[in-house]
Amino acid sequence: MTGNFPAISLKNVRRHYDDGAGNEKAALDIVELEIRPGELVAVIGPSGSGKSTLLQLVGGIDSPTAGSIDVSGLCVSGMDEKQKTIFRRENVGFIFQAFHLVPSMTVVENVALSSIVSGQRGLRWRPDALVLLDQLGLFEYADRFPDQLSGGQRQRVAVGRALFGTPSVVLADEPTGSLDSKNRDIVLRLIRDAIGDDSRTSGLMATHDPHAASYADRIIALRDGKIIDQLHLTLNAPHQEGDSHHDERVRSWFAATSL
Ligand SMILES: Nc1ncnc2c1ncn2[C@@H]1O[C@H](COP(=O)(O)OP(=O)(O)OP(=O)(O)O)[C@@H](O)[C@H]1O
Ligand SMILES: [Mg+2]
Repeated sequence: MTGNFPAISLKNVRRHYDDGAGNEKAALDIVELEIRPGELVAVIGPSGSGKSTLLQLVGGIDSPTAGSIDVSGLCVSGMDEKQKTIFRRENVGFIFQAFHLVPSMTVVENVALSSIVSGQRGLRWRPDALVLLDQLGLFEYADRFPDQLSGGQRQRVAVGRALFGTPSVVLADEPTGSLDSKNRDIVLRLIRDAIGDDSRTSGLMATHDPHAASYADRIIALRDGKIIDQLHLTLNAPHQEGDSHHDERVRSWFAATSL
């Protein structure tokens, strides 16, 4: 992947559902969206606007009704279920809105899940997983099970799992919804550090929080499955999250787009 070749590209992507009354309803309808390597794009929009649908399509969890989706040069929309499973394991770090930790595995095993399921022998995955847990303030919880953690702690484990093994795409669905402000910034900083020009990892982050969105390079607003507006934060300058002026810019844009 070199130059300006997009890391993620969607063309004429639609995802329809039956609304229960026999009518087709478009959960997502995107004419074009391109995300460059190293770019973090925040996705905002009211509940039901298609944010999770977009992330699930890019991550190969769901399939579009029509259109094409390419990720890291791979045509995800043309893959069968088996190919998508391999694609997800090798390329995607997904932070689910509902965490989806494996209850029978410990915290450190959950973080290293991709290595464990792909059959990496021994405990070679453990040191890397412990580094992430340390950064997330969860080192001492490594050998506990998810049901022994609070909601915010579980969310941080899900973040660690998504960032483990340097995926080419990080898809974060409301990654800070259950966190206090200190842990929110720790998680956003980790996501931001994982995605950037140096790493070539790119990402999409669905959020309702202007502060979280201010960590992104660009914010897109969805309504009824369509992109209705976007804000470039770092077109010609490095991102300056934590800068109150920058935060303010995002907040006023949220207000202007009535989101
Ligand atoms: N399996 C499904 N069957 C039918 N409709 C669905 C299904 N999954 C999602 N939808 C519909 O698609 C639309 C978009 O849903 P989506 O989950 O993408 O919204 P969202 O923006 O993530 O919302 P939230 O902020 O509440 O998480 C909604 O109208 C939802 O009801
Ligand atoms: Mg959602």
